[in-house]
Amino acid sequence: MNTFNFFNTLFPIFCLLLSLFHVPCEAQLSFTFYDRTCPNATAIIRASILRAISRERRMAASLIRLHFHDCFVQGCDASILLDETSTIQSEKTAFPNVNSVRGYQVIEAAKREVERVCPGVVSCADILTLAARDASVAVGGPSWNVKLGRRDSTTASRSQANTDLPSPFAGVDALISSFANKGLSARDMVALSGAHTIGQAQCFLFRSRINSNGTDIDARFASIRRRQCPQTGGDANLAPLDLVTPNSFDNNYFKNLMQRKGLLQSDQVLFSGGSTDSIVSEYSRNPRVFASDFGNAMIKMGEIQPLVRRNGIIRRTCSAIN
Ligand code: HEM
Ligand SMILES: *[C@@H]1O[C@H](CO)[C@@H](O)[C@H](O)[C@H]1NC(C)=O
Ligand SMILES: *[C@@H]1O[C@H](CO)[C@@H](O)[C@H](O)[C@H]1NC(C)=O
Repeated sequence: MNTFNFFNTLFPIFCLLLSLFHVPCEAQLSFTFYDRTCPNATAIIRASILRAISRERRMAASLIRLHFHDCFVQGCDASILLDETSTIQSEKTAFPNVNSVRGYQVIEAAKREVERVCPGVVSCADILTLAARDASVAVGGPSWNVKLGRRDSTTASRSQANTDLPSPFAGVDALISSFANKGLSARDMVALSGAHTIGQAQCFLFRSRINSNGTDIDARFASIRRRQCPQTGGDANLAPLDLVTPNSFDNNYFKNLMQRKGLLQSDQVLFSGGSTDSIVSEYSRNPRVFASDFGNAMIKMGEIQPLVRRNGIIRRTCSAIN
């Protein structure tokens, strides 16, 4: 019996039988998905991702964010990688992504290397998911086991990218509900925000905060940030999301928040007298709990609405449907 017959014919019947006994049948993704069809896929992808990160360390941050922005729009289906065509409204030009999301060509390069060895087998959605895990490990962050078998979309949604990706100006309740919409808890949201322990943000996204002179920002921190982020101009000037260790994955992000040194408004609201304060304080005291919660939340995020079997395709290049 080949796998095609099993998945398309017997598997649904198998599921139906299980469901008669109220056993859920969601075994769509698996740890061994490419073991027979492309056994070296994960090694090839890891090597390719590590090469990109050794060229530019920030790429680790960019790849983790790319996976997040994929999964929050139509699920983890590599929809973010599709270019504009007459029928596709690319997500690349949605407000949260344009001139901001990076790493497209790194995924494309990894895909090319896998295609050389096993053409038409490994999805771009799985490559994005593996890349995020490999990126975390590369900069000292936690590792986790990735289930595979996601397939790629034939569609993208710029409008959903505009509505479903959270805003850096959001309050804590809006952040909680935007993650709840994707099946993620408030605790998952705080853990995942800990990805801001690495990477950079552009001036125009935190300018209002550093000029607010409010009580939720450390005055000295604000004044240092204003030097590289003037009231007018310098919109794209970068500042580290974690001012202490911007290139390594640790829990300093949470310690910063407790000192009112979060860069984005959406960072600081996680510790500003609201319901998530206790989680921030726990992660700031206990890096192991943060690392373990982060890994588990990345697994959950990586399994948002995957396209499996005939619901998706394997793209030949990640930027276009075949
Ligand atoms: C909680 C809601 C979130 C908001 C409002 C938010 C917003 C932002 C913004 C505005 C930037 C800077 C973009 C730029 O300057 O061009 C950024 C960067 C980043 N975000 Fe988030 N983010 C959130 C959650 C997450 C999550 C869940 C992850 C991943 C698990 C993540 C990973 C990153 C990373 C790694 C960077 C740095 C990217 C780089 O340097 O290229 N963020 N985020
Ligand atoms: C698998 O891929 C890695 C990374 O490219 C390579 O070093 C290794 O030799 C490959 N192994 C096999 C069995 O092809
Ligand atoms: C905050 O303080 C800075 C520096 O003193 C000043 O330039 C700015 O106008 C103030 N902003 C507001 C909103 O009061």
